[in-house]
Amino acid sequence: MAHRAEAVEFQMIDLDKVVSRAIAEFSGTNDANDLEHIKARYLGKSGVLSEARKELAKLPPDERRDVGARFNQAKDKIEAALAARRDELAADELDSRLGEEALDVTLPGRGLARGGLHPATRTLERIEQLFRSIGFDVADGPEIETDFHNFTALNQPQDHPARSMHDTFYLKGAGQNLLLRTHTSPIQVRYMQHHEPPFKIIAPGRVYRVDSDATHTPMFHQVEGLWIDEAVSLADLKGVLTDFLRKFFEDEKLRTRFRPSFFPFTEPSAEVDMSCVFCDGAGCRVCGQTGWLEVAGSGQVHPNVLKACGVDHEKYMGFAFGMGPDRLTMLRYGIDDLRLFYDGDLRFLAQFT
Ligand code: FA5
Ligand code: MG
Repeated sequence: MAHRAEAVEFQMIDLDKVVSRAIAEFSGTNDANDLEHIKARYLGKSGVLSEARKELAKLPPDERRDVGARFNQAKDKIEAALAARRDELAADELDSRLGEEALDVTLPGRGLARGGLHPATRTLERIEQLFRSIGFDVADGPEIETDFHNFTALNQPQDHPARSMHDTFYLKGAGQNLLLRTHTSPIQVRYMQHHEPPFKIIAPGRVYRVDSDATHTPMFHQVEGLWIDEAVSLADLKGVLTDFLRKFFEDEKLRTRFRPSFFPFTEPSAEVDMSCVFCDGAGCRVCGQTGWLEVAGSGQVHPNVLKACGVDHEKYMGFAFGMGPDRLTMLRYGIDDLRLFYDGDLRFLAQFT
């Protein structure tokens, strides 16, 4: 009797409903974490099944075994559904990762772009090679120079008017008077300070001026030349430069002209012009109808410069020149705007590779 009364208190939950609700919830989520939370709600310590199973104690032992078996079946079904859904989600995850990271091995390659030397670099290498072949060494110097090396030692004291032609970029607060060199001539100074004549050098490098138009850029290149010995004259200067230009432009008929000019660091001084490579001297748009193109400044090294650099000016003499290789590059390749060199446009640069 007592058993029967307790049995009435026992509220049997609908296990089939619980199982189908769990299965529906499992397939309702696509998230592996979420799936484990749902599992906990059904199979966990205080989940639906465990809570309902506590009621079993109220049943008489024979019925308890029977109902307990049904609980176990329900639990097995839920666990099987859970395992199946776990596998599905893992497979989905793998599929989408494979999709995202897919390598299409049938795609054609992008191809390797061929690199190449900048036209200005090509010219510098060509100049070095030609001068080395007649015994010149290659010297180097800093792009940030002292006022002394860039101007004073080159016979241009503080208030010399020629300084205004070399407007440049000054560095603040550096203690010394530092500036971006305006020409490669300070390399001559450094070289003479540290070497005993005789010597023959060229010194290529970047230089800076406040300048900007189709044939002038704020940064450009120069190649300095210096030959000091006991009897080096202007005749040697003419021979070396004429020969160099003929070889550079591969034109044995190319002519040069030395036009009187002024530089504080040479005396006498001359601008070096060459016959126009486009019209052979007849006159065209490139040479402004003159038949001539200016390519360098030059002259006999001023005794004051030799003195400032510690060279015995009674014993030694020689010449120096400074040419603009960017301009030589424009002439050699027929380029009409110097700014193209420094725009970094691959469509332009790729033509020289
Ligand atoms: C000088 O710079 C002298 N130091 C050259 C020199 C050296 C004379 C040794 C005597 C003895 P100049 O300022 O003229 O000279 O420049 C020389 C060359 O540099 C010019 O003929 C020109 O080809 C080139 N050049 C000058 N300014 C620019 C610029 N802004 N952009 C490109 N090339 C330039
Ligand atoms: Mg000049």
